[in-house]
Amino acid sequence: MRLQDRVAVVTGGGSGIGLASVRRLASEGAKVVVADIDVQTGKAAADEVNGLFVRTDVTDREQVEALFQSAVDTYGSLDIAFNNAGISPPEDESILNTEPDVWQKVQTVNVNSVYLCCKAAIPHMQRQGKGSIINTASFVAVMGAATSQISYSASKGAVLSMTRELGVQFAREGIRINALCPGPVNTPLLKELFASDSERAQRRLVHVPMGRFAEPEEIAAAVAFLASDDSSYMTASSFLVDGGISSAYVTPL
Ligand SMILES: NC(=O)c1ccc[n+]([C@@H]2O[C@H](COP(=O)([O-])OP(=O)(O)OC[C@H]3O[C@@H](n4cnc5c(N)ncnc54)[C@H](O)[C@@H]3O)[C@@H](O)[C@H]2O)c1
Repeated sequence: MRLQDRVAVVTGGGSGIGLASVRRLASEGAKVVVADIDVQTGKAAADEVNGLFVRTDVTDREQVEALFQSAVDTYGSLDIAFNNAGISPPEDESILNTEPDVWQKVQTVNVNSVYLCCKAAIPHMQRQGKGSIINTASFVAVMGAATSQISYSASKGAVLSMTRELGVQFAREGIRINALCPGPVNTPLLKELFASDSERAQRRLVHVPMGRFAEPEEIAAAVAFLASDDSSYMTASSFLVDGGISSAYVTPL
């Protein structure tokens, strides 16, 4: 119960890593506010943990400000902001085939949202003199892939440098800000890729020293660690939870 009575906002809490984190944070005692653009899945996640659902498009400044304000109005504080919502549409691929509208959409959802969420959350945390912000980046922010998703990779690199700068700026105000870099996670999207194009999927899997993708619960465990006082000396970091992928040259047979 490391998070007893802490108030946590999770964006993209209706699915995947966000949903697993909603469950994990609640199981450690947090009061959880689920934000998602998808009403059905977001509300179901909030109901499951007896939390609050706030339908939010994380690219909309007013909606993002209202989200963090409703966390404070409902539960009295804002202790944890897990800025996790993100997209990786199939039209985002090689730079040669990726058109500006696709590029921009990915940047808006993956980077502008983190900017807006941090901008809205930090003043609440400054008033309290404490808080933990976790921004979801990705291992592709530190590695290049020939199976390119050019805007996605660039967007996650931006999340890393934004997080680093914010972590440094607010370090003496009791606010810790870290980026989480998951390796490839076993989500419906990835399962679909395996089913439809197993050669392309195998091409990815061969680079993972552990020989498997992460389960969402394994990423949620890292979120709980970064949210809790167990990580009290960590800020401005890029926390890799990637099965060893970013350190690998030759992987085991
Ligand atoms: N799955 C992976 O392999 C992997 C690896 C590294 C990083 N990530 C990152 O982790 C995060 C979560 O990924 P996931 O695999 O759990 O994805 P997911 O698609 O399962 O969940 C993303 C959630 O975000 C919500 N969302 C999308 N756009 C939104 C918007 N504009 N406003 C509010 N909510 C919105 C969706 O409705 C969905 O519930 C993303 O930032 C992703 O880039 C994923």
